[in-house]
Amino acid sequence: MEEIKIHTASDLGKMRLSGKLAKQTLDYIEPYITSGTTTDEINRLCHDFIVSHGAIPASLNYKGFPKSVCTSVNHVVCHGIPGVYKLKEGDIVNVDVTVILDGWHGDTSRTFLVGKCTKLANTLVDVARQALAVGISATKPYGHFGDIGKAIQRFVDGYGFSVVRDYCGHGIGQAYHDAPCIVHFDSLASGPQLLPGMFFTVEPMVNAGTYKTKCLKDGWTVITCDKSLSAQFEHTIAVTETSVEVLTA
Ligand code: MF3
Ligand code: CO
Ligand code: CO
Repeated sequence: MEEIKIHTASDLGKMRLSGKLAKQTLDYIEPYITSGTTTDEINRLCHDFIVSHGAIPASLNYKGFPKSVCTSVNHVVCHGIPGVYKLKEGDIVNVDVTVILDGWHGDTSRTFLVGKCTKLANTLVDVARQALAVGISATKPYGHFGDIGKAIQRFVDGYGFSVVRDYCGHGIGQAYHDAPCIVHFDSLASGPQLLPGMFFTVEPMVNAGTYKTKCLKDGWTVITCDKSLSAQFEHTIAVTETSVEVLTA
């Protein structure tokens, strides 16, 4: 199995800066998430913000991804490609931003509500936000990666929603996607130990219906098999000797 990297205090300093810029990009884009905005406009605004802060949008051309951020609307689970689609009242949209600053990656996403949404959409987005918090609370130095998904699935199941199994969190640092793969469901395995100096993401995708997903023919857009709504939040975190630090908070 691929080794999980242990980073230094100076690496952590750089990750704090990239994490902060990724978070600031989401703060910046939030007021633009309104009815009538196209997902391409969201992409362009995020791209310009990232570049103007001396960073590189990590998703642009990553394995051929054509845009700088992912915009995943309604039943799109993740990796939505920005385009001509105009947001409309009642939509939910996840914006997933990853920056490379001074060689280090910061990866974070939030799901935004467009105007007034259904009760279901509000609840789902709330549960997805809390699922990330629950996963982070379960992350303890010298605990295990398996604790994270166990806690998340127990929480999400309690609402009658489901946790996506096909996509995971990931180690991060100088690489965008590194070992290990952090599953957000209870895989019944304890997994590797969480050690100081590890950097990774937690990014549970929560569906209103089935956890099953499929990828569209564009090779990127992932949707729920039953077209039910899907919401996601993501943070990049670092394990320290005594706790965990959320770098994109
Ligand atoms: N940011 C996504 C993640 O959380 C990955 C997007 S890859 C892309 O890991 F190529 F679709 F941008
Ligand atoms: Co990620
Ligand atoms: Co991401």
